[in-house]
This record gives sequence, C-alpha cells and structure tokens, in this order.
Amino acid sequence: MKEKLIHDGSEALPQRGSGEGAGPTFILGIESSCDDTSAAVLRDGFLLSNVTASQAVHEAYGGVVPELASRAHQQNIVPVVDAALKQAGIEREQLSAIAFTRGPGLLGSLLVGVSFAKGLAASLGIPMIDVNHLHGHVLAHFIREETPSDSPLKGEDTGQKVSPLRGDLEGSVLSFPFLCLLVSGGNSQIVLVKSYKDMEIIGQTIDDAAGEAIDKCSKVMGLGYPGGPIIDKLARQGNPDAFTFSKPIIPGYDYSCSGLKTSFLYNLRYWIKDDPDFIEHHKEDLAASLEKTIVDILMKKLRLAARDLKIRQVAVAGGVSANTGLRNAFHDYARRYGWKIFIPRFSYTTDNAAMIAIAGYFKYLDKDFCPMSAPAYSRIAEDTWKHPAACQKSRRDERPQTGV
Ligand code: KG4
Repeated sequence: MKEKLIHDGSEALPQRGSGEGAGPTFILGIESSCDDTSAAVLRDGFLLSNVTASQAVHEAYGGVVPELASRAHQQNIVPVVDAALKQAGIEREQLSAIAFTRGPGLLGSLLVGVSFAKGLAASLGIPMIDVNHLHGHVLAHFIREETPSDSPLKGEDTGQKVSPLRGDLEGSVLSFPFLCLLVSGGNSQIVLVKSYKDMEIIGQTIDDAAGEAIDKCSKVMGLGYPGGPIIDKLARQGNPDAFTFSKPIIPGYDYSCSGLKTSFLYNLRYWIKDDPDFIEHHKEDLAASLEKTIVDILMKKLRLAARDLKIRQVAVAGGVSANTGLRNAFHDYARRYGWKIFIPRFSYTTDNAAMIAIAGYFKYLDKDFCPMSAPAYSRIAEDTWKHPAACQKSRRDERPQTGV
C-alpha cells in the first residue's frame, strides 16, 4: 500500500496542448450545489474564466433557503454560462466536454446545474463529466490561470505570489500523496489524497461542520449570515485568550463541533444575565476566542494524521480555508513541523466552477465520462466517495443519449 502511495503526481497535472486531436481542449465547468451559480472555462487545463453569481436573497433568513436557491439558480445559470464563455473568448461549439457538480449538495440546486449540463451537452453532442463537489474543493489546488493582458482574471485577488499551482506560497509543486483539510459549511474532513481520483476520508466530523458551527455561533451573537467572514473580521481585533470554550475529546482523526456550539451558547446566556449588552461589549474577544478554539480543534487532528502517516505536504480547502486564523495556523505548523503547505487563493476557497472544471479536466484526460442518466445526488456515502456507483464510464466517442 505504501509503495502505491509514493509517486510523483505531476503526471496528472495539466500540460499545455494535452487535449486530444489537433485543437485545444475546452472544458466548461458548472457549479450549483448550494447558493452560488458558477461557470468556468479551461483551455488545456488552464483557466480562462470563472464567473460566479452569489445569492443575496438568503441573508434575510440567516441561512440558505433551498427553494429560493434553486429558483435563483434557474435565473442565473444562462447569463452566468454566457458570461463565462464570453470572457473565455470562445463559442459554445468549441467546447470539448461539460463538467458539472453532481453532488453532494441541495438537490433542488444541483438539479438546475445537472439539467442544464445535460441539455447543453446533448445539443452540442459532447461528453459530460460528473464531479464530486468535495473532490473539486481538494483539486482547486491544481487550478492554473492563463493571464494574458486582456484576461478578465488579471488583477483579481493578487495578494499572493503567483505560482504555477495556486495556494502554494513558496512556488513549489503539490504532488501526491498529500493531506487535505476540507472545511466548509457542510464538511470537516481530513482527506488522504493519493491521486486526483483516489481520495480517502480518514477523519470527519461526527456532528456539525466547522463552518456550520461558526455560522450558528455568529447567529447566536446576532451577527449576519454567513458568519465566517464576520467572525474572521471581528477576531482580528480581539483577544483569542479572553474566553475558553469546551473542546471535544474524540478518538482518531474525527471531529466534533456541536459541543463547542452548545458551550458558546450556554456561556453567552450566563454572561448576558449580568450584562445584557455583553455581546456588544465583547464581540471582538468572543469572535477571536471562538476562532482560536475551532482552529485548535482542526489543527490538532490534522497534525496527528500528518505525523502518523508521515506526510508533510498538507493542504487546506473549502470555504473555512478563507479564515485568517486558520491560514496563520498553517504557517505556524509549517514552521514547527516542517510541513509544506498549500493554501488556496481566496477566490477558490468558496464554491466556484473553476474547481469543478479542473476536476473535470483530470477525468477528461482519463476519458472518464458519465451517461445522460447520471442523476444528481444530495448526499454521498463514504464507500461511494471515490467512484459514485450510479455513474459508469462511457467511451470518449460515445455521444450522450438524449431523453433523460
Ligand atoms: O465551501 P463553502 O463556500 O460552501 C459549502 O459549505 O460548500 O463554505 C461556506 C462556509 C460557511 O460556513 C462560511 O461561514 C465559511 O465557509 N467561511 C468562513 C470564512 N469565509 C467563509 N469561515 C471562517 N472564516 C472565513 N473567512
């Protein structure tokens, strides 16, 4: 098993001109798993455009309302795909394949993207590639951008040094195997990434995800939605040691965040009895202490896994990877334990189609297409994480079947 894991993953990386035939390979990626409608175009594995329409409609409700999300996707999908093709400077007839998020996510939201991908693929007679949304987050580290002077991507989010693989601050190449801490609103997982298609969840939350816990604590404090960016901003001005919240004791590499959420709530209720304006007076310290507790929980298990598996390449992905405290902790652990760390650019932390397109591109190189009958799935069982059972391989030259 060990031998199988030790190999350089660079053979899987996109190379210029690696598409089949004479012309370049253009992949359209579509993401609609939650409340972001996104479309991206790759040429031979290099990103040409990445357009996302977010849905402000949920802010008033303090969380995503599934019915409103799918309606907004319906309104957004055509203009977003049009804009992605336009920014990429190509016609839809030039597309080689369409990669789409098949799951997990909100079923009503997924159905919009899946149905659109099927319709467009059928009309163009090109293959479809189904992508596990979580694989997309992990593979976001392999997004490479083409930035000619007129590129719409130029000048966007240039806070970090440009490198061939995004998120790599030192300019070195991420190869397999590596560990990835995948933290979002719905997931907290430690993933052992052996290749672009062989990923194993070695630890995961047994209850709430980290992002979910942050969002709920933010709600309890009467702050807006999503809570993550608000807590992050407040935490920068607070004392992380001001308050102590309970941390879980869970065996192995698994996580639990619901106890922290309850501890946060009960402590607040207690403190508010003496000072009704306690939150207003202490919101920065509360945010900083909450962030520190969550980051500690996440990093300790990650360190344990890295030590046990003797893996030093460690990446982070998902919406919570935008968190400043977590990013700082990665740098701190890199110094302390000799980790080579990979942190995605901010634009690739939250849901986006660029990560779906790159995951699709890897499958395209393997001719790993899916049939028209591939349904969307809201959840994905662990044993089907690697290869969704319902999706069988179809051949590169097989035209998609219509009528589903
Ligand atoms: O990956 P994502 O966009 O959506 C999915 O859940 O798939 O992640 C969203 C989560 C939310 O819980 C949001 O509060 C959190 O990511 N988040 C953050 C930050 N930005 C987004 N959490 C902490 N700090 C941030 N800066």
